[in-house]
Amino acid sequence: MPDPADAPLAPTLEQPDPEPDFMEDPSIDPHPHYARLRVHCPVPQLIDGHGLTRFVVTRYEDAKAALNDPRLSRNARYAERMLVAAGMGALLDDDVAAANHNMLSADPPDHTRLRRLVAAEFTPRRCEALRPRVQEIADELISAFEGTGETEFMHDFANPLPALVIAELLGVPREDKDRFRTLSNDYMRPWGDPRQVEATAALAAYLAQQIQAKRERPGDDLLSDLVSSRAEDRLTEDELRGTALLLLVAGHETTANLVGNGLLALLQRPDQHGLLRERPELIPEAVEEFLRYDSPVERAPDRYATQDTEIDGTFIPAGSIVQVAISSANRDAAAFNGADTLDVTRAPRGHVAFGYGIHFCLGAPLARVEAQVAFATLLKRLPELELAVPVETLTHRQTSIIRALETLPLRFTPRR
Ligand code: HEM
Repeated sequence: MPDPADAPLAPTLEQPDPEPDFMEDPSIDPHPHYARLRVHCPVPQLIDGHGLTRFVVTRYEDAKAALNDPRLSRNARYAERMLVAAGMGALLDDDVAAANHNMLSADPPDHTRLRRLVAAEFTPRRCEALRPRVQEIADELISAFEGTGETEFMHDFANPLPALVIAELLGVPREDKDRFRTLSNDYMRPWGDPRQVEATAALAAYLAQQIQAKRERPGDDLLSDLVSSRAEDRLTEDELRGTALLLLVAGHETTANLVGNGLLALLQRPDQHGLLRERPELIPEAVEEFLRYDSPVERAPDRYATQDTEIDGTFIPAGSIVQVAISSANRDAAAFNGADTLDVTRAPRGHVAFGYGIHFCLGAPLARVEAQVAFATLLKRLPELELAVPVETLTHRQTSIIRALETLPLRFTPRR
């Protein structure tokens, strides 16, 4: 690969078909916009609030090819001149970048080394073995509110379930779950937002404390394993912290929204809700359909063009930023019949909700176990769940890449 410092400043092309700020304004449903772009302008160049331009990949086949293209790096230094020109050069500062030294931000060979260190923890077999514990946590959370007949579902269930699971896996105290949930919510805010920068620093400091605690008293947990890999010099101190941060944030921000978005989609389709209650054996397929229909990671983290390239007829100059719209790819009618319709019997093989290629989600087997347990338990214990507010009043969080409900108020017949 060429040296990032040599990357030219990508020219801003004429915007062929201006779009409203649907990628930045969470009150706008992005799906109709993606649908129009897939047909008329599959790789538009969109400009964000900082004036930063990105080529956005909207079609399914293009998305897979881009996610698997070694010319599209995860190293932001390839777009240094564009970031600096947009006043976002601080993102490349060593201390900001250090918090994110992890596999998701690395290209091979570092990516391969960092992924290998933890891959054994996330095999389908290892994650399957966690199912009984995930079930206990899900039951405990529902028991806390089932007597009341109402719940703010994101707060009471969708957020804490994966947060508690990843806290136990990493070996960080479960009492801290609210603290790191607030911090990782802020960490997901748009790039350049001061709360995002503060949350990154606070999470890094929190994890540095936890790492120190494991050094003094190692346990049978993932963070202690990473600390011993560090002692063997298999990763640097920054990579140790960056990996812990990635696992903590990726481990719950995403699954929480799979459960939230999936349940909202189901509650809007009583026929599908009824079908799943009658045939719970369909739940694993339904979870795949929820992932496809309203993907929790709406857009994959940015890629940076290391050389001139082309996507679906659009010229991408070296130094450009490329973003793959996962949500859009998963609604592409060329890949999924009736793509805008939720169909829990569809079994949507090949959706890209977990990405594609070398960065394919490491935690996919864990996310699947968590979501399957979540839906099975909810359908069994609270079969007549319904929205407690009109659907139009629900709002989404302002984030960089995820599609996340702010709240999801529900009601049901109270259980004694
Ligand atoms: C529904 C839940 C989840 C979704 C939708 C999801 C989605 C994704 C996506 C789209 C990527 C690829 C990003 C890219 O190519 O730039 C990814 C990567 C990753 N995910 Fe997940 N994820 C979920 C749950 C989890 C969980 C539970 C964990 C683990 C604890 C996890 C850990 C990771 C890691 C470590 C990577 C980076 C892999 C690499 O760079 O090789 N994810 N995830």
